[in-house]
Amino acid sequence: MNQDKINIAIDGYSSCGKGTLAKELAKFLNYRFIDSGSMYRAVTLHCINQGIEIGNTNQITEELANITIGFDYNTSRERFEVTLNGKNVESEVREMRVASRVSEIAAQSAVRKYLVAMQQEIGKNGGVVMDGRDIGTVVFPDAELKIFMTASVEVRSERRFNELIKAGKEATLSEVMANLTERDRIDSSRDDSPLQLTDDYKVLDNTELSKNEQLEIAKTWALECINQN
Ligand code: CDP
Repeated sequence: MNQDKINIAIDGYSSCGKGTLAKELAKFLNYRFIDSGSMYRAVTLHCINQGIEIGNTNQITEELANITIGFDYNTSRERFEVTLNGKNVESEVREMRVASRVSEIAAQSAVRKYLVAMQQEIGKNGGVVMDGRDIGTVVFPDAELKIFMTASVEVRSERRFNELIKAGKEATLSEVMANLTERDRIDSSRDDSPLQLTDDYKVLDNTELSKNEQLEIAKTWALECINQN
């Protein structure tokens, strides 16, 4: 096997288990897992905290100079967690108040340019599994493996609702479903880097797959790519 580490891009609709798969695949390969959505969520949280209008593109663009996004390794959860100006905000960024605004922030080109540059820096030496919406199209267009994940909106909503309740967050199932549907609409139709299924992706529909089954499929694809590399 070639010792060079590849990059793996996992894109797809809201809450279809991209993070879970990316984390487990990265663990199996001894790669680094980066959740790019948490970076967009952290910028959104900052704007909410500062009372900045989400639609005020000029002010948000200026505010980027005051935002430092980082990652802290959490040993018990075996994953990197997002930090905003030095504070771990991994749990806070999952709240519905952030989810309800994040797609508007993520549609802004200045925000994307700022975060994409960071993501490309993180992946420049390979060995990264990154999940998001534009990882295979924009961030790592040369990624050796690109996976597009999807599942029915009912299954995705239930999974996200259960996750939020387990984490002690406020949410209703109908609110979660409306949020996923609206985010998918904005993420797929924006001008800058929309979520797009191009023919270089392998599609993984996990509506009826267990976590283990989806991981086995992704492992096979990853090992094939690594062996060919
Ligand atoms: O976990 P979930 O699938 O619900 O979303 P996420 O990955 O945390 O991403 C939150 C939001 O960030 C998405 O709905 C997109 O609007 C935005 N995002 C993006 O535009 N590009 C990325 N590479 C990742 C996320």
